[in-house]
Amino acid sequence: MPDRFEILHKDLAGRIGRLSTPHGTIETPELMPVVNPHLQLIPAGELAEMGANMIITNSYIIHQDPALRNEALEKGLHDLLGFQGPIMTDSGAFQLSVYGDIEVQPLQILDFQFRINSDIAVPLDIPTPPDVSRERAESELLVTEGRLEEATDQNRPNLLAGPIQGSTYPDLRERAARHLKDLNFDVFPIGGVVPLMESYRFETLVDVVVSAKKGLGSGAPVHLFGAGHPMLFALAAAMGCDLFDSAAYALYARQGRYLTVHGTRKLEEMNYLPCSCPVCLKHSPQELMKSPDKTKLLARHNLHVSLQEIRLVRQSIRDGTLWNLLECRCRSHPRMLDGLIRLKCESRWLEGLDTSSKSTLFYLSPESAARPEVMRYSRRVDRISLQGNVLITDETNTDSTDFDHVLYFKPPFGAYPAELSETYPFNAEVPLEPDDDAQVAAVEATRHLMEANPGVHFAIRLKKSRWTELVNAECNMR
Ligand code: GUN
Ligand code: ZN
Repeated sequence: MPDRFEILHKDLAGRIGRLSTPHGTIETPELMPVVNPHLQLIPAGELAEMGANMIITNSYIIHQDPALRNEALEKGLHDLLGFQGPIMTDSGAFQLSVYGDIEVQPLQILDFQFRINSDIAVPLDIPTPPDVSRERAESELLVTEGRLEEATDQNRPNLLAGPIQGSTYPDLRERAARHLKDLNFDVFPIGGVVPLMESYRFETLVDVVVSAKKGLGSGAPVHLFGAGHPMLFALAAAMGCDLFDSAAYALYARQGRYLTVHGTRKLEEMNYLPCSCPVCLKHSPQELMKSPDKTKLLARHNLHVSLQEIRLVRQSIRDGTLWNLLECRCRSHPRMLDGLIRLKCESRWLEGLDTSSKSTLFYLSPESAARPEVMRYSRRVDRISLQGNVLITDETNTDSTDFDHVLYFKPPFGAYPAELSETYPFNAEVPLEPDDDAQVAAVEATRHLMEANPGVHFAIRLKKSRWTELVNAECNMR
């Protein structure tokens, strides 16, 4: 069987991929709107017109309604919902986590998903919530793993998802992922994270996702279960999540909430609509509030901004500018910033995956000082071998005739060989006044470079005497 997931372009741990299903190939990262088979707030056919290439629905809801169940078994899922692209089905595990009990056997609901021709079926896993005892997380994981192994034994035409659980124990998540990756799954959802997202615990979400990714390796397609808020997509994609599902577009609409890439607003508190989708162009907030179709219209706007953000994430990966988008998005909310700061702690992991050369690096905020390119240079700077007299300067037209080497000084990199100044990443666009993080990173790298070349005489000529003092103070080796 040819590989069902092909990676075409990379940026950070994120990638543009191609996932092949019986109902067509989709490009990832992709957002699957959740379709409620009882109540289509936006009919599935119109979802396609709005740009949805793939949807997800709940097989348990279909299974429990005799009329829907029979129709699905007769016509298949695609005709039932009126959507001819790929459809993923969930198993009812989420109902299990909310209501505690469901009325089907694991293999029964899996077999039903195959019979109605789901493109990606999900076995009945146990979505263990965050912060439970280790004993509970381990014992539920054991049950999930047993059901998953049983699921891979089934004869099946379509794709099979292997959800990764393990609550908020990074080692359990990593172990679960490592175990599943060698079984016969096609997609790997990270589950049990909805409560983390609902409570804005994005730093814990980063821990959970990164651990699962470390266990899975970079080649496997990953679905972040329940991630539907557009402000999250850049962060999740940067960690290597490929699929998202949004019930949020409809759930928030029902609560009168208006999604933006910066967060959620209550429609009743808005004076202007900042978006240019057909709904926002045609209505004022007051008109939307009064409309009998308020929920449907709001759902359309919410889905519009979500799909738009997914396309922007894809373009950013193609351009190699996903870190910039990440900084912008994560500076919209302090809890998102917590997520990015936690991701910075994983810079070594990111650096290992982020190997491509890109368009000019933009230094945008203190977080830029932790970019993989900066970390990589800092880590390898001791490989630069120098002799004799070396000039460290930030003036390109300075007289360097008496020197054996010239190094340019540029935060956040610090000193680097002048010959590289036009090449990536040293051709970075940086602010005229570097922030503290850039200066600290620059001085640190420069110190490493000097320590690695102990016999060399360094002359430091920097326009900003402050830097000279900083470098001299830090690098007091002569
Ligand atoms: N939907 C949201 N979270 C989960 C999960 O952990 N498992 C399944 N199957 N569906 C989900
Ligand atoms: Zn809009």
